[in-house]
Amino acid sequence: MFKNIILTGFMGVGKTSVGTGLAKDVGYQFVDTDLLIEADQKMSVTEIFATKGEPFFRQVESRVIGEVLQRESQVVSTGGGAVLRDSNREAFKKAGFVVCLTARPEVIFERVRHETHRPLLRTEDPLAKIGELLESRAPFYAQADAVIDTSEKSVEAVITEIKEKIRYAYC
Ligand code: S3P
Repeated sequence: MFKNIILTGFMGVGKTSVGTGLAKDVGYQFVDTDLLIEADQKMSVTEIFATKGEPFFRQVESRVIGEVLQRESQVVSTGGGAVLRDSNREAFKKAGFVVCLTARPEVIFERVRHETHRPLLRTEDPLAKIGELLESRAPFYAQADAVIDTSEKSVEAVITEIKEKIRYAYC
């Protein structure tokens, strides 16, 4: 088995639900880097973006990622923009098996439209913003060890697929 399983991918692709189920299934601890950032800063991600700005958030995110990846036997769900920094992507690769979850922009929009905790999608036209961000981040998301489109799949199906990819990579 790998030291850790690291889930990357855009907001709304299912990292939290898949990660929680996968962790239970393989007996690893589930860790969500956004929650650790919120605990570290004693404020929500939305508040951090509003009061301290995105560059500050990205600094804290990298530090928290570095700390988390010192440990093993975890399923780590990372924020959608964590792949933007080279150093984060390198740390992911070194620390375990990296799975990027994807979904079509319309599917992501449907999943996040009623949520209020995604500061980057608080715009006039969130669907257009999702398309833009997905396109600019595509080369970074593609660097994962496995990429799985969750658009039409149940959480259980995605978990099974991840376990198959890991088994295949491990042999
Ligand atoms: C972000 C995604 C969010 C959170 C922050 C920035 C991004 O995490 O880290 O709002 O840049 O895509 P989730 O992908 O868990 O929603």
